[in-house]
Amino acid sequence: MKADPGRVAVLVSGRGSNLKALIDQASGYEIALVASNKLLAPALEVARSAGLPTWAFESGGVPRDEFDAILTRSLEDHRVGTIALAGYMQILSPPFVERWRGRILNIHPSLLPKYRGLNTHARALAAGEELTGCTVHIVTEELDSGEILAQTEVAIEAGDDVATTSQKVLMAEHDLYPAALAAFVQR
Ligand code: GRF
Repeated sequence: MKADPGRVAVLVSGRGSNLKALIDQASGYEIALVASNKLLAPALEVARSAGLPTWAFESGGVPRDEFDAILTRSLEDHRVGTIALAGYMQILSPPFVERWRGRILNIHPSLLPKYRGLNTHARALAAGEELTGCTVHIVTEELDSGEILAQTEVAIEAGDDVATTSQKVLMAEHDLYPAALAAFVQR
């Protein structure tokens, strides 16, 4: 069966608030599968509550290439054409990135190319930034470095700390990701 760009798999490892936003605002794309490398990821419950098919396989101890090959088979079985990472905390293997070249999106809590990697808000605050935000980009082998598809700026105000900043940015993520994904599958 042929893959369809509008059939999206969302890959999750954690709480799943972006997944929830992608589900609630799904328009122009369909979530065909929610996949996780953590059997107990709360995001899987978000998916099940929405009646979506899930796939979960505990990644600990499994070589990454092997894990990603099994995942690819499941994505193919579901005729997935686009992959949206949403708090997926495992680096993708180079063969997986090659297999899905140009079809994997991620949301990152900074204004890329600033603050790639983890702890973005703590680093932005420590640097005295007055502006931060979130970015939807295409995933390549290089961490948080692929083509930027969309960004939202969020002001850092006096008194903001990591908790308030991450909350504000998360709200922005929930608007940005569904819109960016819908635009991407139609391009
Ligand atoms: C978000 O901050 C996202 O930007 C980052 O991981 C977090 C996922 O949160 N990639 P959630 O699981 O979607 O609530």
